[in-house]
Amino acid sequence: MVGPSSFPGPRSLTSRSSRPRPAPLAHNGLSRTRRVPLDGPLPDVTGSFSDTVGPFPPDLAAVTLIAPPSGEIFVAEPIATIPFESGPGHTLPRELARRLAEEPLGPVRLPTGDVVTLAVRHADIVAVLTDPRFSRDLRYPGAPRIQPGLDISDNPDLLVNMDGAEHARLRRLLSGTFTPRQIEKWRPRVREIAGRLLDGLGPPGTVTDLIEAYTFPIPITVICEIFGVEGLDHERVRAWSETILTVHVDNVEEQVTSTLRFMEYVRKLVAEHRGDPGDGLLRLLLDARDEDDRLTEDELVNTVMGLIAAGHDTTANVLARGLLRLLSEGEYAGLVRDPSRIPAAVEEMLRWDPPGDSTLLRVATEDVDLPSGRIAAGEVVLPMVRAANFDPGVLRDPGDFRPARGECPHLSFGRGAHYCLGANLARMELQEALRVLVDRVPTLRLAVPAEEIPWQESALTSRLKRLPTTH
Ligand code: HEM
Repeated sequence: MVGPSSFPGPRSLTSRSSRPRPAPLAHNGLSRTRRVPLDGPLPDVTGSFSDTVGPFPPDLAAVTLIAPPSGEIFVAEPIATIPFESGPGHTLPRELARRLAEEPLGPVRLPTGDVVTLAVRHADIVAVLTDPRFSRDLRYPGAPRIQPGLDISDNPDLLVNMDGAEHARLRRLLSGTFTPRQIEKWRPRVREIAGRLLDGLGPPGTVTDLIEAYTFPIPITVICEIFGVEGLDHERVRAWSETILTVHVDNVEEQVTSTLRFMEYVRKLVAEHRGDPGDGLLRLLLDARDEDDRLTEDELVNTVMGLIAAGHDTTANVLARGLLRLLSEGEYAGLVRDPSRIPAAVEEMLRWDPPGDSTLLRVATEDVDLPSGRIAAGEVVLPMVRAANFDPGVLRDPGDFRPARGECPHLSFGRGAHYCLGANLARMELQEALRVLVDRVPTLRLAVPAEEIPWQESALTSRLKRLPTTH
């Protein structure tokens, strides 16, 4: 049994942070006010909000109308909580479409109850993610959290939580392994792994859960091979990663336990391989640590754990969700006819169904003017990339799923300093997984109606539980 001593508590990891307290937003934590012009029709405030933002909190019994001396009225309304309910067929939530049109920067409640500013437009999100005045250091007292219990932002040894020179140092060390040239070398191996998995498909008519048989095993096998470690327990690693990346207010204990067990497991793995580290990424990381002491033991363990979790769950998720969309929208056959369209189809799959709706939070270290408005020093922003991917300001007919779309400026891999380290790998894996599938199983189809396929929705990632198919 792992004990709490192996990992510091969430709020004790604050030593490197000296952030200012968050600035107050235009809300009181429970509701926010919306300005309504007096010359227009009075909005129907009785119940219309519940369509888009859910029921009123019990302690906000009534809508408040205030007529200040300016002559305007303000309507108090509850602050919506993420994750927002998806539109029919897991399309863009109506609340995100509304915000894209009317409220590009507005308050949103996280599952913990904390309130931050939600950015939805492409230009604002690019500005936030590329501006060094926005920091990933959210380890100051009272900082908002997406996740109750242990939150990703609590851990100072994760690459994605570092800023500036500290971040650049670790990123430099890792990036050599993930360049397009290095990743291309893995392409034949990914094809081989995918082909071998399909050898196990039953005769025509057999019902197969593609998540178990195909979308999950590919990325986990590949990331283990890149590390150069054998015998990794795929099933346990998968279960821990899923729990860690799924935000639920009622699974805090399970989350903390999974994080600690995963960490302990990786610590042992690293210790066991120290004498014989193979010739993969693990050796590179161990050498870097042992020769120059550039990586602390905690950084090493967290980097390995972070890469294993980020390196399989995300890709498996996009592949499964993308396949569901291709099959349910009748677009799979087009790829069978013309596999040269696969790279474009992968970009459209990434645009429509990123593994999570947003990147991680950012805190402004000073006042910053974004295209849609000012963010005050200390204000925390949640960049909602799923909304930006549907911004009509950057894409024509964003609501159409078009695998043959040429240009696709999605932000599913983020932008700026923290742009996904594994983007080249993920793209290549998705392309090869699709290529092998359309080649070997051209008659693939869903075994049940798309509406019957179960989903698990959460604020960090949403995933399919099963993908029953036949051929
Ligand atoms: C389709 C698959 C994937 C998607 C959509 C995805 C998405 C993202 C996004 C949005 C970020 C930025 C987070 C932020 O700025 O707050 C990110 C960062 C990161 N991703 Fe991925 N990812 C995928 C696959 C992978 C893979 C395969 C790996 C590893 C091999 C990986 C490793 C990382 C790492 C280490 C970071 C942090 C980079 C940094 O802080 O400098 N990801 N990813």
